[in-house]
Amino acid sequence: MAMQQIASLLTLILLLAAADVSLAVSTPSTIIRTTCAVLDRPGGFGYDECVDSLAADPASASAKDVRELAVVTTNLTVANVTSMLLVLDDLAKNLGWCRRIYRGMNKSLEAALGELRAGHLDAASHILFDATHAPDDCEILLFQVSAGKNPIRKENIDADWLSGLAYAIASLQLPNHPPHRRQV
Ligand SMILES: *[C@@H]1O[C@H](CO)[C@@H](O)[C@H](O)[C@H]1NC(C)=O
Ligand SMILES: *[C@@H]1O[C@H](CO)[C@@H](O)[C@H](O)[C@H]1NC(C)=O
Ligand SMILES: *[C@@H]1O[C@H](CO)[C@@H](O)[C@H](O)[C@H]1NC(C)=O
Repeated sequence: MAMQQIASLLTLILLLAAADVSLAVSTPSTIIRTTCAVLDRPGGFGYDECVDSLAADPASASAKDVRELAVVTTNLTVANVTSMLLVLDDLAKNLGWCRRIYRGMNKSLEAALGELRAGHLDAASHILFDATHAPDDCEILLFQVSAGKNPIRKENIDADWLSGLAYAIASLQLPNHPPHRRQV
């Protein structure tokens, strides 16, 4: 066997030994295993997910009976719901801002329509250009505070695309306004 192969074999043996130690340390207690086994049936809770979830709270290791395990699980749920409430607070606050932003955008669109109907393409184009920023502003707000939890991303993209199109068309025949679009 080449030196290199012996070295990798040794590494493997060391890794296996380490894995064995960490497994021994994190073996779920009997009460966790039996409880999760009872709940592991069709329509119930998967055994592995059950054990993993309970292990997330160090207090579960010392639970002696089902009642104590219920305390741990309820406690875990409190932590879960607490972070959900933080996310919801963020979302509610930022969706409120988005609502204001879109109300303002609607007003701008109304004004742009007035200008278009009066034949003022230049004025309409300016107003439409400003209006195209609204979906972006909303998107940024929702991204910054609730990253990954934006429930209106598609709507923002649609509004951005459509207002960009309106602006581009209104500006087509204006000398100083090349069609221009930003990505949300
Ligand atoms: C309850 O959860 C907190 C953290 O969220 C933890 O510090 C505490 O040990 C837990 N208590 C029990 C009984 O599980
Ligand atoms: C809430 O619990 C679920 C299930 O255990 C977990 O997947 C999720 O990450 C938890 N959420 C938070 C914010 O802790
Ligand atoms: C948006 O503006 C239009 C007029 O252009 C109006 O009819 C409509 O009610 C407005 N929508 C909201 C939600 O304010």
